[in-house]
Amino acid sequence: MNKFKRFTVTSALPYANGPLHIGHLAGAYLPADIFVRYLRLQKKDVVYICGSDEHGAAITIKAKKEDTTPQAIIDKYHHQIKTSFEEFGISFDIYHRTSSPIHHDLSQEFFLNLYEKDEFIEKFSEQYFDEDYQQFLADRYIIGTCPNCSNPNAYGDQCENCGTSLNPTDLINPISTLSGKPPILKLTKHWFLPLDKYQPWLEQWIDTKEGEWKVNVFGQCKSWLKSGLQPRSMTRDLDWGIDVPLEEAKGKKLYVWMDAPIGYISATKQWAIDNGKDWKLYWKKQENEADEACLLHFIGKDNIVFHCIIFPSILHAHGEYILPQNVPANEFLNLEGDKLSTSRNHAVWLHEYLEEFPGKQDELRYVLTSILPETSDSEFTWKDYQARVNNELADILGNYVNRIMVLMHKYYDGKVEHETGKIVLTDKSVNTEIGRLYDEIQVNLEAYRFRAALQSVMNMARLGNGYLTEQEPWKKIKTDPAQAKEALHNGLVLMGHLAACLQPFLPATVRKMVDMLNIPFSAIAMDAEMAFASGHQLNKPVILFEKVEDEVIEKQLQKLADKKAATAPTQPAIVPAKENINYESFATMDIRTGTIVTAEKVAKTKKLLKLSIDTGLDTRTIVSGIAEYFEPEAIIGQKVSVLVNLEPREIKGILSQGMILMAESADGKLSFVVPGGEMHNGSVIR
Ligand code: MF3
Ligand code: ZN
Repeated sequence: MNKFKRFTVTSALPYANGPLHIGHLAGAYLPADIFVRYLRLQKKDVVYICGSDEHGAAITIKAKKEDTTPQAIIDKYHHQIKTSFEEFGISFDIYHRTSSPIHHDLSQEFFLNLYEKDEFIEKFSEQYFDEDYQQFLADRYIIGTCPNCSNPNAYGDQCENCGTSLNPTDLINPISTLSGKPPILKLTKHWFLPLDKYQPWLEQWIDTKEGEWKVNVFGQCKSWLKSGLQPRSMTRDLDWGIDVPLEEAKGKKLYVWMDAPIGYISATKQWAIDNGKDWKLYWKKQENEADEACLLHFIGKDNIVFHCIIFPSILHAHGEYILPQNVPANEFLNLEGDKLSTSRNHAVWLHEYLEEFPGKQDELRYVLTSILPETSDSEFTWKDYQARVNNELADILGNYVNRIMVLMHKYYDGKVEHETGKIVLTDKSVNTEIGRLYDEIQVNLEAYRFRAALQSVMNMARLGNGYLTEQEPWKKIKTDPAQAKEALHNGLVLMGHLAACLQPFLPATVRKMVDMLNIPFSAIAMDAEMAFASGHQLNKPVILFEKVEDEVIEKQLQKLADKKAATAPTQPAIVPAKENINYESFATMDIRTGTIVTAEKVAKTKKLLKLSIDTGLDTRTIVSGIAEYFEPEAIIGQKVSVLVNLEPREIKGILSQGMILMAESADGKLSFVVPGGEMHNGSVIR
C-alpha cells in the first residue's frame, strides 16, 4: 500500500429506490469511510467516490409499485440517501448521480469506444417478452429458479443467493414479474461483451491477486472462471436508462451494470471540475506506472462479479484505464436472527435511527464496525448494541476520558503546567505499549481488518484505565502530588493519542475530545508529536456516551415485531377438515335456492334475525344468527341457499323451519352462498 501516493476509493452506488439500512452501511460504506479517513490521515492523495445508481429495473419496478414515475423515485431517494450518508458521517468527496448529463455522456462514450474497436458481438437472439405488457423482460423483470443453486427467486441477471451472474434464458421456469405469467420468446438485437474472449486475460490478471484479495472474493472469481464465462449483453430493451448511442439501436438502453460502474468515473470527473483537479490522474494509466492511482472498490458480496469480472473487462477493452487493485467485499449482515429484508421491512433504517437517536451516529458506527461481516455473515441485535455502547463505549472509552478531564479540572482547574515548558509522555512502558498499538491499528487497517483495528484502539483506552487505576492519582494527590500530576499528564497525552487513533472510526467523538483538549486537529495528526505546552488550558469535560436504557432497546425490538406483523401475509386460518361421510348421508340433505321476503330483528337478541323465505315449495320462517352482519332492510330480496329438511326447532319462541347456508371467513365475516347463475326459487342444490 505504501507504494501508492494516490488513491481512488469507491463505495457501491446504491440504487435510488429505497432508503439505506444497516446492512448497506456494514457492507460497502462504513469500511470504506474508515479506510479513506485513515488514508487522509496518512496525507495520501485520495478521492472517495459514490452516488446514486438511478437506472435499471430496480428503479422502474419501484416506480410502478408506488404508482409514480422513475424520475420521482430517483429524486426522492437520491436526496434521502445523500442526507443520511452526510448525517452518519460518511465522508464522500462527492455523492453524484447517474442521471446526470456528464454521466450519460461518458457512458455513451465508453460504449462507442468499444463499438468502434469492434469489441461487441452483435447478435439477434430470442429474449423473453411479456405479451400482456408488450415488454421485453430483462434482469429484474424476470424471476425463476437458479440453475446453479436452485434458489426459486433468482433474477434474470443474477442470483442473489449464490452470486452467480445469469442470463434470463438460464432461469428454470421463468416468470414475468409484470404479469406473473410465463413469458414468450421474441427476436431482438443486442450488443454483447465477449467475456469468453477476455477469459484468458482475466484469469491471468486475477491470479496475480491470490493472497492479496480476500479469500471469499478470490474464490468466487476463480469458480466463475472455472465454469467458463459467456458473452453478456450490454444493451436492453427498456424505456428507462441511457440511450444506446447507435442509430439502429433506437429505443434501446445500456445495461445498468454497464453504466453504473462508469458512474464512479463520471462522478470523479464532476468532482475534479468542482475542485480544480485532473480526474485522469485518478483513473487513467500513467506513463510511469509508479504514478498510477490505487483503485479500490468497497462493495457487498452480491456485487463481486460486476466489480471483479465485468467492469474490469470493460476497462481492459477500453485500454486507457487502470484496474482495481483490490475489491474488499464484505459478506452480509443479519438482523435479530433473520436476513435483512426491504420487502418484509425487516431492517434498521438509517434515516429512522438518525431521527430516533439524534447525535448518536458514533454509537452506531462503533457497533457496526465491531461486527462487520468481514469474513463471514454476522448479526446485529439490539441487545448487543446496548451491551457494546454501555460496556465498551461508555464504561471504557467514555469513562477514561471523563476520569482524566474531571481530575485535571478538580486538581488544576484544567490547566496543564510543567517547569520544562512542555508536557510529554514520561512513562516508558505506557509509551512502548502505545507504539505497539499504533502499529497494530495500522497493520489491521491496511489489511481491511477493521474490527481488529477498532479492538486495538479500544485497547489503548483500556491501557489508560489500567494506568490510572495503578497510579491512583486521587490518592497520590495527598501523599505525592508531583507523581499524581505526572500520572494525569501522562493520561492526558494518552487521551491525545486515543483521539488520533479514533479518527477513522468515530469522527464526531474525536471532535468532542479535541474540543475538551482545546487543541487544533493538526495536533492529533498521525505524524504529530503528542505534547501540550505548559500553561495550556483545557475545556470543561462533556459526557461522550450515555448509557442505553432497557426501554430504548425494547422499543426497537417492538418496532421490528410490529413491522413484521404488518408485512406478514395474512394467512387465513383454515378450519380442519371433518371426517368423511358417504354419499347417502350427503343425499339426505335437501338444499334449495330461495329468496328472503321479509327480515326483522328478534327482540332482545343481538344475533338473531327472523326471516321469511320463499323456497319455491312454500314461504316459511327461518331464524338465522346473522344480525350482527346484515341490516334487515338490506337483505330483502337476497337470494339464499336453504337446507329445507332440517328438523323444525323453536328458537326464542319462534318455530324455525330450516337453515340458510352462509360462508364464514377466518376473521368471522359472513356471506350468503348462492348459485352463480339465474335460478328460480326451489332449484335443487346437490
Ligand atoms: N446499485 C447496485 C446495488 O445496489 C450497486 C452498483 S455499484 C456500481 O447492488 F458499480 F455499479 F456502481
Ligand atoms: Zn443461485
